[in-house]
Amino acid sequence: MEVFVVRFLRASLAWLALGVTLGVCMAVHPAWIIYRPAHLHMLLLGFVMMMIAGVAYHVLPRFAATSLYSPRIAVAHWMMSNVGLLVLASGFVVRMHDVLAGAWLLGVGGVLSAAGAYAMAWNLWRTLDRAAVPPSRLVNTGRPLTMAPGR
Ligand code: HEM
Ligand code: HEM
Repeated sequence: MEVFVVRFLRASLAWLALGVTLGVCMAVHPAWIIYRPAHLHMLLLGFVMMMIAGVAYHVLPRFAATSLYSPRIAVAHWMMSNVGLLVLASGFVVRMHDVLAGAWLLGVGGVLSAAGAYAMAWNLWRTLDRAAVPPSRLVNTGRPLTMAPGR
């Protein structure tokens, strides 16, 4: 597995642990339900989206019998989405106590998180462009599948 794939899977598991911990805190101390957006974004943007990213970066190029369009964009995506989510989740907490500071954190974290999502969409879209080879144009030579000669 590529390093960035392992990092996405580990980040996803770390966000799962953090998100459910906040969920348990909210369950036992209902006054903390004001932090619900932080909880659900840690789990949906953190656990779910990063698990999807890690699995997609590993599996989609293999399904498409090609390589990932840009591993460097995937590394940038990891940085933007993790820093972005850290700032976004902090913003959801801080805005309950300081509206202006919360708004700044939400703005910066939101833009970074969105930039990460756009980077993933672009990278996988371009990867799928490389996959536009119909199965009928592939020949089985006993080695990994290759294009039929002269076609
Ligand atoms: C130990 C595990 C968990 C606990 C104790 C927990 C606890 C909670 C609590 C107390 C709330 C607030 C409910 C309310 O507004 O009255 C909540 C909301 C929510 N949780 Fe969790 N949660 C857990 C795991 C998860 C997971 C794994 C996900 C998603 C992958 C998730 C997604 C959500 C969402 C989307 C909401 C908002 C629901 C809404 O707005 O109606 N939670 N959770
Ligand atoms: C760039 C990424 C994202 C940003 C900046 C963002 C931002 C926000 C904001 C500002 C809210 C309103 C929270 C409030 O005031 O109560 C919200 C709500 C919500 N978001 Fe996101 N979001 C993002 C991605 C996602 C994703 C990927 C999911 C699900 C997979 C998601 C699920 C939700 C849900 C379920 C709510 C409703 C929460 C509630 O009613 O308590 N968001 N989001």
